[in-house]
Amino acid sequence: MPIDVAADVIANHPLSADYNVLALAAPAIAAATAPGQFVMIKANGLVEGAGCPGSHDPLLRRPFSVFEILRSADGTHIGISILSKRIGVSTRLLYDARPGQRLACLGPLGRPFTAVEPPAVAWMVAGGVGLAPFATLAESLHARGVRTTLFYGARSAAELFYLDFFRALDVELVLTTEDGSAGEHGRVIAPLDRRLAARPPGAPVMIYACGPEGMLAATARIALRYGRPCQVSVERIMGCGLGGCYSCVIAMRSDDGGAHHVRSCLAGPVLPADQIIWG
Ligand SMILES: Cc1cc2nc3c(=O)[nH]c(=O)nc-3n(C[C@H](O)[C@H](O)[C@H](O)COP(=O)(O)OP(=O)(O)OC[C@H]3O[C@@H](n4cnc5c(N)ncnc54)[C@H](O)[C@@H]3O)c2cc1C
Ligand code: FES
Repeated sequence: MPIDVAADVIANHPLSADYNVLALAAPAIAAATAPGQFVMIKANGLVEGAGCPGSHDPLLRRPFSVFEILRSADGTHIGISILSKRIGVSTRLLYDARPGQRLACLGPLGRPFTAVEPPAVAWMVAGGVGLAPFATLAESLHARGVRTTLFYGARSAAELFYLDFFRALDVELVLTTEDGSAGEHGRVIAPLDRRLAARPPGAPVMIYACGPEGMLAATARIALRYGRPCQVSVERIMGCGLGGCYSCVIAMRSDDGGAHHVRSCLAGPVLPADQIIWG
């Protein structure tokens, strides 16, 4: 069951002019979250202490992947963090949030990733802020002893974040940037394609992807071409996160060859890539 809490802002770490990591005191949500799940956050609840100011903009909450599970030194759950990219009214407010402010946070929501076990290896494919669900997934895979690679693409070197976090979990990094300032010049799909082509058919691999829809569709096509399973985390616009508004529907293949729609907040955000009908 999702929990709705008034979460104190513990810390706000700007990573660049557009990205920040916001740590929220939400121990019950932290304890219940599985990798790939998300929270709905009401950014205009950002006030000192409890309560909500008069403004109704933004009226609706916004979805964010749980980025990190925050624990104290003795392992007690403290809260969660989110990795936010500033694109509009809510993410602007979250970028400017200050410790001590409080906001409404509902979660955990949605279906998580299904983690593999050795001897399967895990390949995570992240584009930009699509990195967000992979910190908790990498921890879970590390605990299972799964060899993990992160294919991570960004616009430039300055937008490649948390590399040491993943290295500390023994995650192999394959980096690309659109301007060539770090890693391979170009899109993250290119090294993924080459690695899949080189991998022996009998060696199991699970592909996990999160990022812009074009990147997800390309990842799904490549996975299908090489006959590999692929789970994608889709980012539809979500009005409620609870199945009530149908703003988040996505077309899926039916068993009879036709199509049907699912609400990605309930059936997803993690969905089997080969069943999605990409637009
Ligand atoms: C399950 C899920 C998890 C997400 N996790 C994260 C995360 O971890 N970090 C993060 O920064 N963002 C994440 N997002 C996207 C995030 O929800 C949007 O960036 C946020 O809603 C924007 O709110 P805003 O008020 O700042 O922008 P708005 O003012 O609402 O919108 C600004 C512009 O962005 C467009 N837009 C808004 N949401 C989306 C979207 N989902 N896809 C494409 N265009 C959109 C709007 O149409 C508008 O043109 C996630 C989305 C989903 C569905
Ligand atoms: S976000 Fe409202 S139904 Fe999915």
